Amino acid sequence: MAMWRPPERIRYAPTSGGWPSREQAAASRLFSGVEVGPLSLTSRTWVPAMVPWRATEEGEVTPAVLDWYRRFAEGRPGAIVVEATGIRDIPSGPLLRIGHDRYLPGLRELVKVVREASDGQTRLLIQLIDFLAIRRRPAPETFFARYLQVNEIHRQRLGLADADDSTVRAALAGLTEERLTEVLEPRELEALRMGYRERVTDLHLPQVRELPRVLPDLFAAATARAREAGFDGVELHYAHAYTMASFLSATNQRDDGYGATLEGRVRLPLEVYRAARRAVGSAYTLGCRFLAEECIAGGSSVEDACYFALAFAREGFDFLALSRGGKFDDALQPKVGEAAYPYTGSSGYECMPSYYSDARGPFGRNLPAAQAIRRAVREAGLQTPVIAGGGIHHFQQAEAVLDSGQADIVAIARQALADPDWFRKVRSGCGDAVRLCLYTNYCEALDQRHREVTCELWDREALDETGAARSRDGKRRLVAPPWSEK
Ligand SMILES: Cc1cc2nc3c(=O)[nH]c(=O)nc-3n(C[C@H](O)[C@H](O)[C@H](O)COP(=O)(O)O)c2cc1C
Ligand code: SF4
Repeated sequence: MAMWRPPERIRYAPTSGGWPSREQAAASRLFSGVEVGPLSLTSRTWVPAMVPWRATEEGEVTPAVLDWYRRFAEGRPGAIVVEATGIRDIPSGPLLRIGHDRYLPGLRELVKVVREASDGQTRLLIQLIDFLAIRRRPAPETFFARYLQVNEIHRQRLGLADADDSTVRAALAGLTEERLTEVLEPRELEALRMGYRERVTDLHLPQVRELPRVLPDLFAAATARAREAGFDGVELHYAHAYTMASFLSATNQRDDGYGATLEGRVRLPLEVYRAARRAVGSAYTLGCRFLAEECIAGGSSVEDACYFALAFAREGFDFLALSRGGKFDDALQPKVGEAAYPYTGSSGYECMPSYYSDARGPFGRNLPAAQAIRRAVREAGLQTPVIAGGGIHHFQQAEAVLDSGQADIVAIARQALADPDWFRKVRSGCGDAVRLCLYTNYCEALDQRHREVTCELWDREALDETGAARSRDGKRRLVAPPWSEK
């Protein structure tokens, strides 16, 4: 699957920016402690959620999941957020799940592994997600023969008033692309070209209409389970292309009180939070990740995000983690047999920008928006910590984010994947040993193909090392080689 790139194609390269000495690191803001609700972080560093495709088909924690998070914990960031984890007890492929008590033993083990590997220095949160149905792009023959529901409008537009279904289907299958645009409704065309996808605005579907009734309890039960498993906190996933972000979206025109206006759009996210809060009480860290900007035509702006941030902060959310883009609305067309992916269009580029960029470049694209949002929260007299990042790979950048008030905690995703010891190396004056992320998105391409995510900087290294776990095809190691300070 391809990924969208800015037409300017200006090439950027990461730099070290000059690493601090051990003493400079000790005196930095980045390596100073911070409170996130009831939780104390030992530094202002945060590894945001990254799906590594290592769970079982049933959503269980596997030894490979444990290895993945152990490796991040060895680097001792202030916090790690475990990948988007499904709150429902329904099949959803090899994504972690937390929709039933049977997931507790595996999740408890995960918590234990991270505590031990970080020597208690890293706090562990988990990201809770709900998503709507999405189908693969069908072969046109299958679509016309089976999926499309033939109706009177089709008959009328084809001039086949009394024809039976199979005649109409055959006629549709024989139309040119141009003629199809005239005969099919936009959603039918989308189902043909991209694969069928539910939207929160599909109020004719009972399961979509009832989302405001079912989601608060589902999120609350999952939050209670996360606490029971020993996680230090929960991040409600209100970002990117998924259910809760779709409620917040400016494209949400639901007319049942859960859309149309800013108040309506934020209503369910607040109700979900309240239910989750009731389930765990005030002494548990509970916040969310949402979009500073949707980066799509007609999408939410930074002003909308300021409104949401204020509503969340006033309600008592313990943290506001910001991301950017990552929507289905502008996703590229998938191949037949594959599903659309929300990180393939220009909003996807905003979420995970690669080294080919425009004049703004791939580093810190979300920070001006983060600053505006944080300022709005502070001006209202609220101290809720804001977490932001995107393209952060060197110490001076991270320190500048904090110094300039763009955020209170710095999120570092791909750089942590490229070198999970980044935090420990920089803190101990060994910055020269850091492997810098190249922002090629090799990792993201694996993610799109649902293959085990690894980094090209280390996945072919020391493959013969005893005990190094390998990918299913045997060609890649699954975690970065160990590092120790000499
Ligand atoms: C392989 C991969 C998987 C990701 N999975 C998630 C996820 O589960 N939830 C989420 O909110 N963001 C996810 N992201 C986005 C990252 O958390 C982060 O926002 C993004 O990579 C930009 O930060 P960076 O420039 O530091 O990498 C993922 C990113 C990558 C590369
Ligand atoms: S594969 Fe490695 S170097 Fe390339 S973008 Fe991902 S983390 Fe960075």
